[in-house]
Amino acid sequence: MFDLLIQNATLPDGRKGIDIGIRDGAIAAIEPALDAQAGEVIDAKGLLVSPPFVDPHFHMDATLSLGLPRMNVSGTLLEGIGLWGELRPMLTHEALVERAMRYCDLAVSKGLLAIRSHVDVSDPRLVTVEAMLDVREQVAPYIDLQLVAFPQDGYYRGPDAQSALERALDMGVDIVGGIPHFERTMADGARSVEALCRIAADRGLMVDMHCDESDDPMSRHVETLAQQTVHFGLQGRVAGSHLTSMHSMDNYYVSKLIPLMAEADLRVIPNPLINMMLQGRHDTYPKRRGLTRIEQLMQAGLTVGFGQDCVLDPWYSMGSGDLLDVAHMAVHATQMGSGADKTAFFEAVTTNSAKIMGLEGYGLEVGCHADMVLLQAKDTAEAIRLRPARLKVIRRGKVISQTAPAISQLSLEGRSPTVDPSDYAPLHPF
Ligand code: FE2
Repeated sequence: MFDLLIQNATLPDGRKGIDIGIRDGAIAAIEPALDAQAGEVIDAKGLLVSPPFVDPHFHMDATLSLGLPRMNVSGTLLEGIGLWGELRPMLTHEALVERAMRYCDLAVSKGLLAIRSHVDVSDPRLVTVEAMLDVREQVAPYIDLQLVAFPQDGYYRGPDAQSALERALDMGVDIVGGIPHFERTMADGARSVEALCRIAADRGLMVDMHCDESDDPMSRHVETLAQQTVHFGLQGRVAGSHLTSMHSMDNYYVSKLIPLMAEADLRVIPNPLINMMLQGRHDTYPKRRGLTRIEQLMQAGLTVGFGQDCVLDPWYSMGSGDLLDVAHMAVHATQMGSGADKTAFFEAVTTNSAKIMGLEGYGLEVGCHADMVLLQAKDTAEAIRLRPARLKVIRRGKVISQTAPAISQLSLEGRSPTVDPSDYAPLHPF
């Protein structure tokens, strides 16, 4: 007897006609044609059932603040940082919580049930930290929210950042952040990487740094990050976010760098939406794309998870809470459009990011949490192409969000066809 039985699902690995039996909030069975009674039955009708989407890089304290106190005119990262600095003294606990909770509702509707959010610790009041800790507790029943102590204005450059970062960790923030390319000098940046990795090693925490988010090929802090990861024995516990300078680096240097990153088991978090928007801003023509070397990093066996970074904030006036938007952009920006590429990119917004966050009980296997999403798509490639409705979002065996399928009824000359975007396939008439 199951509490919930999902019938006739297609799984991300391509298996079709799979039933998923759920008991006590966990997956009790997952195989074809399960023969058992259930309190509730959902017919997946051959559509894709995926584990939840996971966003390993976000800014929950800044989301939904677009236009406050003014718009980013140049559209650059640096004006965004300046703009956030203008808004920071005006932030209140109530407004931060309200915006974050509203965003989390949107996330759930998109099947996004785990988020790693950087939290700015540049203001020693730490109102951002208090608010995000509050949000983490409130959303815990339905979203795994990890928080990173992020010195937005620089660990050494920001006047109070060193003590504020330690206090944020004392208050319960999970992960050590950093921004070495924003320190005053390359030397300060390297020093910050060492100091922050030391803090993580001493406290037994993970590290996730904004690293080399520029088009400057000489921004090489990722090398220091990998080396310090090995030095402190933090392999597999350190992530480099963005790494966009790698796009512009010399190929010989990269041929030496990537093996070092692999040796450190460095986790890589590109943010295709925001990087396509922010990078190459100092170029005239041709304009570089600025996204890190996703194809080479994946080929080298590094764990790559895609982040969303921003939704309606000083850096990005777009965003929808949908990790499939991120994967969709990645296909175009990397020119990686094969079936295998799409499989890899679906993993980049699900299993890889879950691995980066260290989520326990994640996945579609017996014994895992009964967390999953039924999509209006037949497989993972179609999910990335269509970014379809999340028909059911399930957390611990309970449906927590439902969306009606997008089906259009047309009235044309002598015909009234119904259009279901998930029912389209190439036509081969010959
Ligand atoms: Fe970020």
